[in-house]
Amino acid sequence: MDTNENLGMNRRDFVKFAAGAAVVAGVATAFPTAAMAADPFPMPALPYADNALEPVISARTISFHYGKHTAAYYKAINTLYAEKKLSGTLEGVIAATHGKDDMAAVYNNAAQSWNHTFYWNCLKPGGGGEPKGKLADAIQAAFGSFPAFGEKLVADGLGQFGSGWVWLVQKDGKLSIMKTPNAVCPLATGFKPVFVLDVWEHAYYLDYQNLRKDYLMAALGKLANWDFAAKQLG
Ligand code: FE2
Repeated sequence: MDTNENLGMNRRDFVKFAAGAAVVAGVATAFPTAAMAADPFPMPALPYADNALEPVISARTISFHYGKHTAAYYKAINTLYAEKKLSGTLEGVIAATHGKDDMAAVYNNAAQSWNHTFYWNCLKPGGGGEPKGKLADAIQAAFGSFPAFGEKLVADGLGQFGSGWVWLVQKDGKLSIMKTPNAVCPLATGFKPVFVLDVWEHAYYLDYQNLRKDYLMAALGKLANWDFAAKQLG
């Protein structure tokens, strides 16, 4: 599987991902892209222009969510990785620090970096609609229909108390929906992320204020990148 798609995130892949995303998208963004070459995990470029998700997600939201929040998570994990003399991939760091209170800062920033890059790739201009092919078949098998899946994803995203994420995940070949609090990433518990929506308020508050359900429905219906999600299936 292409590492640009499955986000196998060691340093080399991250540099490749960042460079590839900018070339493939053919767009320039106003945001920092590969950060400093010495960073173990440079923040990948957005795979589209900062205003490309409008009107569903505004350039102003992107300017904070990608340009400030995502960047801060990457800056923190790069700093911690060096300070604590860590090694291995970002996914390896997430797995090794999950559930360890004394490594909470490392886990939170590693997971939030991974989660956000995955999220940005789960969206695309002109996305949404229904998936096709094997992803459509897997959703049908797990949830009965695409509308039933969509209703449950939105309901679970709405039901996540406080900050977090709502995921479509795969384990043992079967799809399910998982909501996680704060930074928690399904990778750490053996679930393979297929699709995600961020339900932290920073993802939607500037555009939707407290109306999380409206954001979830619009993002799912108009921005979901099912081609990317299909490539995550094992
Ligand atoms: Fe976020």
